This record gives sequence, C-alpha cells and structure tokens, in this order.
Amino acid sequence: DAADAEKGGYDYFMHKEIHEQPKALRDTMTSRISAENEDIVLDKIKLGKDELKNINKVYIVACGTAYHAGLIGKYVIEKYARIPVEADIASEFRYRNPIVDENTLLIVVSQSGETADTLAAMRLVRESKGRVMAITNVIGSTISREADDVMYTWAGPEIAVASTKAYTTQLTCMYMIGLHLGLLKETITKDFYNRIRTALLRSPEDIEFVLKQEEKIREFAYNNFKVEDMFFLGRGLDNYVAMEGSLKMKEISYIHSEAYPAGELKHGTIALVEEGTIIIALCTQEEVFEKMMSNIKEVKARGAYILAFAQEKNKAIEKEADQVFYIKDTEDDLASIGTVVYLQLLAYYLSVARGCDVDKPRNLAKSVTVE
Ligand code: G6P
Repeated sequence: DAADAEKGGYDYFMHKEIHEQPKALRDTMTSRISAENEDIVLDKIKLGKDELKNINKVYIVACGTAYHAGLIGKYVIEKYARIPVEADIASEFRYRNPIVDENTLLIVVSQSGETADTLAAMRLVRESKGRVMAITNVIGSTISREADDVMYTWAGPEIAVASTKAYTTQLTCMYMIGLHLGLLKETITKDFYNRIRTALLRSPEDIEFVLKQEEKIREFAYNNFKVEDMFFLGRGLDNYVAMEGSLKMKEISYIHSEAYPAGELKHGTIALVEEGTIIIALCTQEEVFEKMMSNIKEVKARGAYILAFAQEKNKAIEKEADQVFYIKDTEDDLASIGTVVYLQLLAYYLSVARGCDVDKPRNLAKSVTVE
C-alpha cells in the first residue's frame, strides 16, 4: 500500500530514517559550507560579533532527544566559544525562574518546532529580552516563526516516533554553531577550526561505516532479545551519547535501561550489576579511555557482559570487552555521530526482535503539543 511505498523498501520508517542519515547530514552542511574554502558560513544567523561580546550566558532548552542534542551542544559551545552554557529540559526550565536578561542567548532545539514546553520556554526568554536561536526541522513551525534566528536541520520529514536523523542533524548544527561562535569570539585557532570542520565534513562517511556493521548488531539483538535491563556507561561526551542510546532503547524496545556517567557507577548503579547484566560501554574519548577501561573491569568482575564502542585506533579495548564495535577514527568531539548510529541500530533490532511496534511505540507521540 501507500505507506509501504513511502518506506522505500524498508520494513519500518525508523530503519529508513537511520539509513538516510548520511544524506541528511550532507544536506544540513552543504548549503552552509563555502565552496571557496570550505569554511562554515552561517549567514542566516544574524547574531554578530558585537552582540556576541555581550552574551554572558547561553541556555540550550529542549525535550526528549532534542535535549540530548542540547547536552552535546553545551559541551562544544563551552569548549569552543568559552561561554557558560546550561542545557535544560524545557518543562524544568520554564518553572524554575531562570536568570534571563538581554545578555542571554537561548538556543531551543525542536524537530517539530511545536513542542508545548519548548515553545513556552522560548516565550519566557523573549519576554525577558533574551535572544532566541532555534534549531528545528520544520519550516514555518511556531518555533521557527517566533525565534530571532533559525537554523534548519535539513533532515527531511521524520515519521518514526523515535528520533534518529533529526538528532544527528541537530548535532551537526551544534558543531557548526560551536565552531562559528568560537571563530567569532577568537577562542579557537584557525588550525583547530579546520581540524574539527574537516572531521565534521567526513561524518556522513563515519555513519556509512557504521551502517556496514549493521548485521553484527542485528545478530547481537537476536541473541539477546530477552534481556530485561541494560546499562549505558560513558564519560564526557560519551555520557551524553549514552543518555540518547538509553532513551532510544526504552522508547522502542521497552527494555528497562539507564544511562550513567561511568565514574558515578560506584555511587549507585553498580549495585544492580550481576551475572549476565549487559553493559553498553562507550569508550570513544581518548582523555578518559583508561578510566573507562577500569570501569569495565569493575563491572566485569561482577559478571557483566560488556559491549564496547571505541575508535578503531583503540584496539586495547578488546582486552576487556566481550564484544567491540568500532567507529572510524575521528576527532574525539565528533565520535558522538558514529556511536549514536550504532545505538539506534541496537534499539531498532531489539525492538524488531521483541516484536514491538517500532514506529509507533506505546504511549508515545511524535510531537507533544500539550503540556
Ligand atoms: C517527543 C518525541 C521525541 C522528541 C520529543 C521532542 O517525545 O517522541 O522523539 O525528541 O518529543 O520533540 P521535538 O519535536 O521538540 O524535537
């Protein structure tokens, strides 16, 4: 029927959308890359150098998966532009009397551009004279109309309730904004900018590489579909990716899952680790790689089964993990993109293996337009 035709040969929209990500990322970047020198050109963003000087606080506010993109945005904008950034959940932000004035920049992230809490957060900031930049996927959406600046994710329509390509294109926007602001503020060197930009431009290929390992993820899912709990661990950027992986897992497979900063493990979650517990260990960040190795040892000693994700150069991980999935070597800051695609596939195949309605998980809506 017509719905099948729209799925373009895939069983589910989510599967199709996972596979559309290389193109979605290219589309999101292409119109913003100078043909001349490959620099990032965000000419639709009116926030200029002088205004930026006065910005002393950035909030990134969103719900669900978009919030998880916001956490990565916080990480890169703080690192590159050296402005304090707070990422918050819209329904929390709007009721906590946040400190906002004309020197505040709010970045709202919303695939649909219609989420009630995100919209309310944005209106609150505008009333207090703050400046609003929106990252959204829907042209003409309420959020796109009310923001001062809009950056569209060119992901195309996302049908599956669980967000995939909207998230990775939101990440792409975050990296571009981070680099753009960093250059404007002169808090990064042109060399550093070039390095990250080059890696960003390669990220669609990083996804293609992960998609080629799909069969191995499918196999793992079919061998483990009866699992009841899953724990996602990571440090730094990986911690934020873990949160998204865990959300995806519970949304569509109904497996209970938790994401935990690996260093916090011994302050709680480790109490739940027993023989056979599956641990998803994200180990893509060089700076904390050894720390992750020790965390893996700790949970292994309690009988956990470790599925690790690492950059290809970090083969040492094979000593500790039970199974390893590699992403292509890249800048650590950009490891999020390849890694999350693995986690999307993992959630997807567990959902399929458990016979769940992948595209329309129970109790969830694509867009939450009421509070
Ligand atoms: C719902 C969807 C999620 C989405 C969230 C925020 O919960 O199921 O996939 O991340 O809303 O939606 P938005 O359109 O604002 O990104």
